[in-house]
Amino acid sequence: MKKIFAMILALTMSFALVSCGGNSATSSGAGSADDGTLKLAEPGVLTMGTNATFPPYEFYEGDKIVGIDTDLSAAIAEKLGLELKVVDMEFGALIGAVQSGKIDMCLAGMTVDPERAKNVDFSDSYATGIQAVIVAEGSDITSVDDLNAKLEAGEDFLIGTQESTTGYIYSSSAPEDGGFGEEHVIAFSAGAAAVQALQQGKVDCVIIDIEPAKAFVEANEGLKLLDTEYVSEDYAIALPKDNAALQDAVNNALAELIEDGTVQKILDQYIKAD
Ligand code: ARG
Repeated sequence: MKKIFAMILALTMSFALVSCGGNSATSSGAGSADDGTLKLAEPGVLTMGTNATFPPYEFYEGDKIVGIDTDLSAAIAEKLGLELKVVDMEFGALIGAVQSGKIDMCLAGMTVDPERAKNVDFSDSYATGIQAVIVAEGSDITSVDDLNAKLEAGEDFLIGTQESTTGYIYSSSAPEDGGFGEEHVIAFSAGAAAVQALQQGKVDCVIIDIEPAKAFVEANEGLKLLDTEYVSEDYAIALPKDNAALQDAVNNALAELIEDGTVQKILDQYIKAD
């Protein structure tokens, strides 16, 4: 229910943004094919970077990377008359890859975050996320409050997260900032590894974005998604700060895809309503 509300809110906000941004979208010619003026990692190619460990946003189907972010990238590339190339890398390497121009944009279920915004620019948001908590069935952790109670009681507990993600950043922050302190958090290279550690009893819970959380719970025995949310956030495309033409092209293409319902259609295809 909350998610539906968040989605409606995000949609309303997107429409509001589209309508105020309407003028710039038409004047800079969104939707036209790239006439060669865009500075790209490879001419004629839109290189998108991601970390394909994050269903349903990006994951492997055989040896192909599929998901919401690749479909959205394909729609953007098509609007710009460019070929799409998807590059898979560590989540923590994505911001640097955008900055150095190794990739033209990053779509990785990436949360808009002020620290990241020092190094990259974010597009309008195309989806919302929630940091959720996964536990083993029968766990005594039934809510985020239970984690806080453990912290206050000085009990030992460990939270598994994916490295460099907001799940890690928030939960490892100091208690006065809403976190549990670094000593209570382990970072794994991928969410699936954190989930495996949970199954093996090496961590007491996993904090990760809700859609991958659902996918992991569905794919693994003995796990439960808590009906409690830790933090809610916005996902957006990360773009290089020093490439205004590319920013305009991608932002305008995204605005059109939000406005004509393509983004919602892609989201609905991968995310079933509760
Ligand atoms: N939304 C979180 C963040 O931005 C997690 C994203 C992880 N994405 C991925 N493709 N592994 O930090």
